[in-house]
Amino acid sequence: MYKKFYKLSSQERRTILQDNGRYDFDLDVPLPESTSENMIENNITLYELPMGVVTGFLMNDKEYVIPMVTEEPSVIAAANNAARIFASNGGLKAKVISRLMRGEIAFSSPLYDYGEYIDNHYDELIDLCNRSYPSIVNRGGGVQSIKHRLIHNENKPSFFIIDVTIDTQEAMGANMINTILEALQAHLQEIYNHEPLMAILSNLADECLVEATIEINPETLRFPESIAQRLEEAYQLASVDPYRAATHNKGIMNGIDAVVIASGNDWRAVEAGAHAYASRSGSYQPLTTWSIADNGNILGSITIPMAIGTVGGTVKLHPKAALAKKIMDYSDAKELMSLIAGIGLAQNFAALYALTTDGIQKGHMRMHARSLAMNAGANENEIQEVVRRLIKDKPMTLQKAELILKEIRR
Ligand code: MEV
Repeated sequence: MYKKFYKLSSQERRTILQDNGRYDFDLDVPLPESTSENMIENNITLYELPMGVVTGFLMNDKEYVIPMVTEEPSVIAAANNAARIFASNGGLKAKVISRLMRGEIAFSSPLYDYGEYIDNHYDELIDLCNRSYPSIVNRGGGVQSIKHRLIHNENKPSFFIIDVTIDTQEAMGANMINTILEALQAHLQEIYNHEPLMAILSNLADECLVEATIEINPETLRFPESIAQRLEEAYQLASVDPYRAATHNKGIMNGIDAVVIASGNDWRAVEAGAHAYASRSGSYQPLTTWSIADNGNILGSITIPMAIGTVGGTVKLHPKAALAKKIMDYSDAKELMSLIAGIGLAQNFAALYALTTDGIQKGHMRMHARSLAMNAGANENEIQEVVRRLIKDKPMTLQKAELILKEIRR
């Protein structure tokens, strides 16, 4: 259906997607100024980034098209490559482990055991929280638990912290959580006669977790005799070297951020959650694992916090977020969480497959050459020829691109 998609023009791609019910030209419009003006302070203009797609993305036996917003030339090509390999191995399996958001209220230097009141009035406090945001209860969600802990630190004040977990249903729920926390905070301030330090959601969304896995037969890859071991070693390297783990995880976030942005969600929240989760053992770890199964197959997995929503905020206001939903055709937040995690695993696989075989530059060459050609000032009709000669003649430098362009124009 999407064969040789990369060879088509953008207009041809849009038409094919529309013919497959995955595009809506009415949504392919810029964010209206009347909206952007009310979204941020001191708005002056819009800042565009390209949106591309991954086709043939097979997850839980359903085939998806995934929109990605990114400025990095090789990201979507790499994700498509991985998607093709994953699909030929039966596709990803993904599941949401839990979908609860968390917020905290902090008191510094508590004067006595503040936890006792919470334990003795637990149901009342849950009720108080839920009454501060009744619409989420009507939608089947609401506060699930109120826990407390004390943090003692040498040479610092101790902190009494109240953790509230909330089922936000389809919303990411930042405003909801903060509203509920502030209602609880106001009540506790009176009871304790102590002004809290702050009340805010936590981006370490470790109870909003999604897992995606893939099993790959090495025979479907190049270098089948060594690739499984090399991928496993690539994971092992990232698990003992934080310098490598940071780059390993950056590659994962190349894919994740691109879909989170397309979907109209808060990618900084997802980034913060991912890196905090990667550090949960005390040492910064890779977010994916790669190992060899008893049958010799390659097993890849990702487990990652994914605090996203499908309603509210930018998701509703941005026409391109609505377009992204049309393209992906997800039905709820759990499905979107799974797709985003799956893309993260695919992006990581593509990077490790390249790094442990040909190296990363080979696959990047054409994209890099295109970028050099554009930077040298080549117009639409000249780009192809500059790229062809850059790849053939080398070196791949801006100077060389400018020289080629001069020759073409002579
Ligand atoms: C580049 O944006 C991402 C990679 O460096 C990721 C990796 O090294 O795993 C290719």
